Amino acid sequence: MRVLVTGGSGRLGRNVVGALAAAGDEVVSVDTAPEQRDDDVVTFPADLTDAGECYSTLARFRPDAIVHLAAIPAPGMRSEVRTFTTNTALSYNVCQSAADLGVGHVLVASSPTVMGYGNPAGWQPSYLPLDENHPVAPWNAYTMSKAATEDVVRAFARRGEGRFHIFRPCFVVSPEEWRGAPTQGGGTVRQRLENRSQAAVSLFNYVDARDAAEFVRLLLAKAEHVPNGETFFVAAADALAEKPLSELLPEHMSVPDEIAGQLTGTASAFDTSKARGLLGWEPTYDWRTELV
Ligand SMILES: NC(=O)c1ccc[n+]([C@@H]2O[C@H](COP(=O)([O-])OP(=O)(O)OC[C@H]3O[C@@H](n4cnc5c(N)ncnc54)[C@H](O)[C@@H]3O)[C@@H](O)[C@H]2O)c1
Repeated sequence: MRVLVTGGSGRLGRNVVGALAAAGDEVVSVDTAPEQRDDDVVTFPADLTDAGECYSTLARFRPDAIVHLAAIPAPGMRSEVRTFTTNTALSYNVCQSAADLGVGHVLVASSPTVMGYGNPAGWQPSYLPLDENHPVAPWNAYTMSKAATEDVVRAFARRGEGRFHIFRPCFVVSPEEWRGAPTQGGGTVRQRLENRSQAAVSLFNYVDARDAAEFVRLLLAKAEHVPNGETFFVAAADALAEKPLSELLPEHMSVPDEIAGQLTGTASAFDTSKARGLLGWEPTYDWRTELV
């Protein structure tokens, strides 16, 4: 299978590109900042916010599948307006070009932040762990851009001309970050673990980049068994915390005890049983064994 990965130079993209290439796929990595590689992966520079450049890039490589990761990947990295317009232009251009060119399968990265946590006006989960049926409540440009992206993907799925799926990776930790490299949020993973207020805002979520990459590989391999337009949480089995979330969420996020108490032991606030049931995907890395 020929797979085109957008944002292939990024934190998650590098791991996805590597995993697909190792599994024998022909991989094209498209990024505004293509990286030098010493393997068979083709790298190609393109700004996919430009609809014409997006279409011609997809037409040039004619992939069987696209993994769309390119984005401004977090709130606060650019202005609100740039974050929203960039991310929505990217997801629309990729989906529209893929549909026009008959690409069979498109998998798009959203974010668990669409749930709405971190809203200074307040946020409470209706229940825990959060699953894909829990209502979303976007409140800033990044979360609005991801909610809009999810709507775009579902709209293309509804047309029935190809398979379009969404995944919401939790805070991605790549192998070098376990060893102390700076994370996307700034600081190290250990600092995030020790400074609870930093991780609390995202409900102490995380996922190892290799597990997220394996999810992508499995979804592409088993796409025909997955209903069109599905959304998946992709999270580690546990929380990035030394205490149970039943204690930490009431303390740091004002989650009522009766809701936080629905989580037992080291459990994550995110339910990945849909990915396990439909794809057989299980997270295999956790901070207790990986953090150096
Ligand atoms: N890293 C996380 O913790 C996390 C969590 C949830 C969701 N996500 C989502 O996963 C995806 C990947 O995130 P990441 O952490 O690897 O981000 P990243 O910033 O490391 O990688 C994104 C890549 O996209 C490229 N890019 C940006 N604009 C582009 C454009 N106009 N055209 C082509 N390429 C462009 C960048 O050059 C970069 O290499 C994003 O959609 C992000 O929103 C990430």
